[in-house]
Amino acid sequence: MMERTFVMIKPDGVGRGLVGECIRRFEQRGLVLLAIKMQCLSVERAALHYKEHEGKPFYEGLIAFITSGPTLQMVWEGNDAVAQVRKMNGATNCLEAGPGTIRGDFGLSMQKNLIHASDSRETAAREIGLYFSDEEIVSTKSLCPEWLC
Ligand SMILES: Nc1ncnc2c1ncn2[C@@H]1O[C@H](COP(=O)(O)OP(=O)(O)O)[C@@H](O)[C@H]1O
Ligand SMILES: [Mg+2]
Repeated sequence: MMERTFVMIKPDGVGRGLVGECIRRFEQRGLVLLAIKMQCLSVERAALHYKEHEGKPFYEGLIAFITSGPTLQMVWEGNDAVAQVRKMNGATNCLEAGPGTIRGDFGLSMQKNLIHASDSRETAAREIGLYFSDEEIVSTKSLCPEWLC
């Protein structure tokens, strides 16, 4: 089913020069980029993004890490996009992520795992709304989609 997912390259991914590698993988897979921007997250926005983790032992470190440098936000669309991107990113802990996944190929730890992606359609809708207005997301119709899916 065609759906959208929210993807963010974290400060370690941007800092290590992996933006192009991540985008290349998603494009190669046939996913379509609908929106993109770059920013250093405020603590307030980071707290909204990770509100499900508030109070957990790793929360303060996670907020400090995610606000420590530039991040890249994107909306990707494709068949089963939420699950497909989660598979391409790999397990949360890079040391357990399989070879061929972004985290498995490049990641170093549990916290510094390079990339975030929505874990459900509902989360995707919430996260896309947190970073993008409707005007900032191109319509699939404008992309000549008949050869894409
Ligand atoms: N035990 C942990 N120790 C340190 N950082 C963690 C831990 N668990 C999760 N994190 C960090 O918090 C982020 C959000 O966690 P979670 O939603 O469980 O993973 P995912 O990003 O795979 O959806 C992770 O990507 C990782 O950067
Ligand atoms: Mg998560």
